Amino acid sequence: MVKPLVILFLLGALQGAVGWIMVASGLVGDAVYVKPTRLALHFILAMGLLSYTFWFVLQLKVKKEQIAVHRSAFNFTLVILFVVVLQLLFGALMAGHKAATAAATWPTINNEWIPTALFKDSPWLINFIENKITIHFFHRGLAYLLIILVTAWYFYTVKIKASGLFQATRFIPLALLLLQAVLGIIAVLASIKIIPNKWGLYEWIAQLHQLAGMCLLLSLVLGTLSHKTKIIGTINLQKQRSRKKSFLFSNFCP
Ligand code: HEM
Repeated sequence: MVKPLVILFLLGALQGAVGWIMVASGLVGDAVYVKPTRLALHFILAMGLLSYTFWFVLQLKVKKEQIAVHRSAFNFTLVILFVVVLQLLFGALMAGHKAATAAATWPTINNEWIPTALFKDSPWLINFIENKITIHFFHRGLAYLLIILVTAWYFYTVKIKASGLFQATRFIPLALLLLQAVLGIIAVLASIKIIPNKWGLYEWIAQLHQLAGMCLLLSLVLGTLSHKTKIIGTINLQKQRSRKKSFLFSNFCP
């Protein structure tokens, strides 16, 4: 119990420190400007803190003897989580750069499938954090990749005879992802209607897009843990262990 609380405290302190550096470095004269990369770092740390808190709560709710997992489903979930974190980073860069208006078209990016300006800046790596068109391209590309991965995950996990909690919740990541993609597309198309200093459709959709992104992340944290609950229906945990088909993830527990 002490270890996770210490981790939570450290994550909170780190988040506070990065937030302070971010704000302090953004106060230039009368202007307030926060570097998109710092904003992205702050955002991703917040997501880490949120996910860990959620994970901790789930740990408290799930009985230890129920902890077991379907190894390949668990690994599959981790791969998706990794891609989601990348996607959240690109999302934060989208917001930080106010990049929506740089390509307010869909499905193409300013009428190009592969933008000519993709790697226009030098060195080429800088495009990933500074070039709005590159950020658009990868944010959209990762969304399509996630739709493929999470659809595959859904149909893969449907085949697993799972406990009630897992059965009841495994549709959530796919549902949230589809909602998220639709919100993103509406945000892009609505960005031509942005009126500076006025809260309009774009701002509402962008906020919902951010909220749905967080929920998607948490649903995958739950997806990871769901493999740890009662497990895999009628199959007895001990039998599973002896067959080496299941894996006890107590190492992952705080
Ligand atoms: C499907 C997976 C997606 C995820 C997880 C995701 C996540 C995010 C996140 C976390 C943000 C930052 C929001 C903020 O900090 O305010 C963001 C911003 C944005 N995303 Fe996505 N996104 C996804 C798909 C898309 C798609 C398909 C599009 C458009 C085709 C899109 C367009 C945008 C735009 C325009 C912004 C900037 C919003 C703003 O100005 O605040 N997103 N995304």
